[in-house]
Parts: sequence; C-alpha cells; structure tokens
Amino acid sequence: MTELGTNVEKAAELLRRGELVAIPTETVYGLAANALSSDAVLKIYAAKGRPAFNPLIVHVRGAAEFSRYAEEVPELVMQLAAHFSPGPLTFVLKKKSNVPDETTGGGNSVALRVPAHPMALDLLHQLDFPLAAPSANPSGFISPVTAAHVADQLGGLIPYVLDGGACSVGLESTVVAVQGDTITVLRLGGVKISDLQLAAPQATVVTSTTPAAASPGQLRSHYAPRTRLVLGNLDKLIQEHRSKKVAVLALADLPPHQNIVAGAKLSPTRNLDEAARNLFASLHRLDAAGAEIILAERMPEEGFGPAINDRLERASV
Ligand code: TXA
Ligand code: MG
Repeated sequence: MTELGTNVEKAAELLRRGELVAIPTETVYGLAANALSSDAVLKIYAAKGRPAFNPLIVHVRGAAEFSRYAEEVPELVMQLAAHFSPGPLTFVLKKKSNVPDETTGGGNSVALRVPAHPMALDLLHQLDFPLAAPSANPSGFISPVTAAHVADQLGGLIPYVLDGGACSVGLESTVVAVQGDTITVLRLGGVKISDLQLAAPQATVVTSTTPAAASPGQLRSHYAPRTRLVLGNLDKLIQEHRSKKVAVLALADLPPHQNIVAGAKLSPTRNLDEAARNLFASLHRLDAAGAEIILAERMPEEGFGPAINDRLERASV
C-alpha cells in the first residue's frame, strides 16, 4: 500500500530505515533514498526498473555541502550555485569515496543539487545523510509533477509519497559539468542557458554534443507516453493523421479536427515558463484519453522552448 501525506517526520523516519519515499521538488517528484547507503539506493533501481549504469542525482540542503561529497568544487560551481542553489541546477563533480558506486552508476563523478521545495529542504534538514532521487516514474515514462502521478505510476511499490502539491517548474533540472571556464550543459532543463551565461559572464557555455556518453540518462527514448507521440507543425500533423482519433498538445491554439479526443493548451498566452509547468501533467492526461496518437506542436526555440522540445523529442521515439 502506498500512502500519500504531508508528514515530513514520517518521511524522514522511513528514509532512516532505508526505505524509499517519493518527495516533491520544484522540478518534478523524486524517488528518494539515503544516497550513502548502497542497499537503499539499489531499491530505487528496482522500483524504477532503471538500468544500473544510469547515475542518480544526490540532493543536499545547501551548496556548502557539495565539498562533503565532491573532491573538488571549482569556484565557477560556487558562482553558479550562488545564483541557482537552491534551484533547478545540478552539478556533476568528481566524487568522494563516501558516495557509493551504486549511487553514481559505477562512475567516478557525482551529480549534486539543492532542491528549492520547502518540504524537500525541511526533510533534508531533518536527516544526517543526502538523498539520491531520480524522477519518480518507471524508467522511460513521463515524469510526475503531482503526488497523484507518482501514486498512479509507482503505487504499491513504495510506502509513502510526500505530497507537496504541483511542481512549480515542471521540467527536470539542467545538468552541467564545469571545467576551467567552460560550462558544459549535459541536459537542458529548469535553468535556461541564457541565465547560466548571465550568472557567469566570463564563462563559455556549450551544449554537449554526445549527451548519451556524458550523461547516461540522456538515452533517446525517454519521457514516453504509452500512446505514440509525433512532434512537428500541428497543421501538417493534423493533415497526415486526419483519419485517426488524435490527442493534441499545442502551445496556445488547438487547430480544428473532427476526431480530437483530448486537447491541451500549454499556455494560452504563449508563455514558455507556463508551458514548461504544464507539459508533463498535460502528457499524463492526453496519454490517458484513449487516442490512437498524440500530435505535439514543436515549441519556438527561445526560453524553455529547447528544453520542452528535447522532452517531446524523447517522448516521440
Ligand atoms: O530535477 C531533477 O533533476 C529531478 C529531481 C527529482 O531532482 N531528478 C531527475 O533525476 O531528473 P533523473 O535520474 O531522472 O535524471 C538525472 C540525470 C540523468 O540524465 C543522469 O544520467 C544525469 O542526471 N546524471 C546523474 N549523475 C550523473 C553523473 N555523475 N554524470 C553525468 N550525468 C549524471
Ligand atoms: Mg528521469
């Protein structure tokens, strides 16, 4: 039985016993366990059906904690952390030996992040260990942005979901690695590249061209609904799939079509922050609508547009 509730003490107690608890963060819900316990972390991989080589993000209560788990914390990391921690930015750093290999997928780097949700921070302050937490969905499926999404997808497999309401960002964290004056973005997400550049004007920001190698979670097929999804220009897609029962994911306007069984407008005012916040909840809803195919509009290449398109592309494989 999976229980939903707002009892942070209860969540802390379960985590101390080596159990799994789903927790709210500002990005998406995470499936948390004691990051320093191999046994606890292995339960995450089992519950998600996640490949063992895919490393987990370790959540800490403040950037001052980075040096407890990372061998070196470059100044540029602390400069970015001053702007974005707590927040949706994850740093890949050289790991210390106190972080088990199970947590880092066998690699010698560790991904560290300070979540910006008050319940997650409260929880971390009650614990004397950090929390490993991937998104709380079965491996490959749509990330959860409400406690109900977690219960739908992992119900029965975990004892407790800490309910912190709907996630305010709605996209997973941006993952970066830093070397010298270069910031390499390994995964697009909740911090925009333009904001990284503003926070570190002296740095060069590059987007990794071999994401799968640098960040193993960037496998192409990911975030996938059960219903087939195609991404592109909506008018064209509607023409191509005219005879089918379709669900439509649009930025602002739903085009006319006779067989729309469900539609989602991510942001009626074309605000891409709002679109990001609504993305995963809309995908969950459209996926449950009984359509033959989901037609998704490609977002403009500005603000969160590239990060949303990245998720939709992975959902379409
Ligand atoms: O917003 C988020 O990041 C959420 C919340 C719960 O914090 N977590 C999340 O975790 O999205 P997950 O496991 O679904 O995605 C973590 C990503 C994966 O792409 C993984 O490969 C990458 O971070 N990653 C983790 N550790 C890494 C490492 N040591 N080196 C490179 N990439 C790493
Ligand atoms: Mg994930």
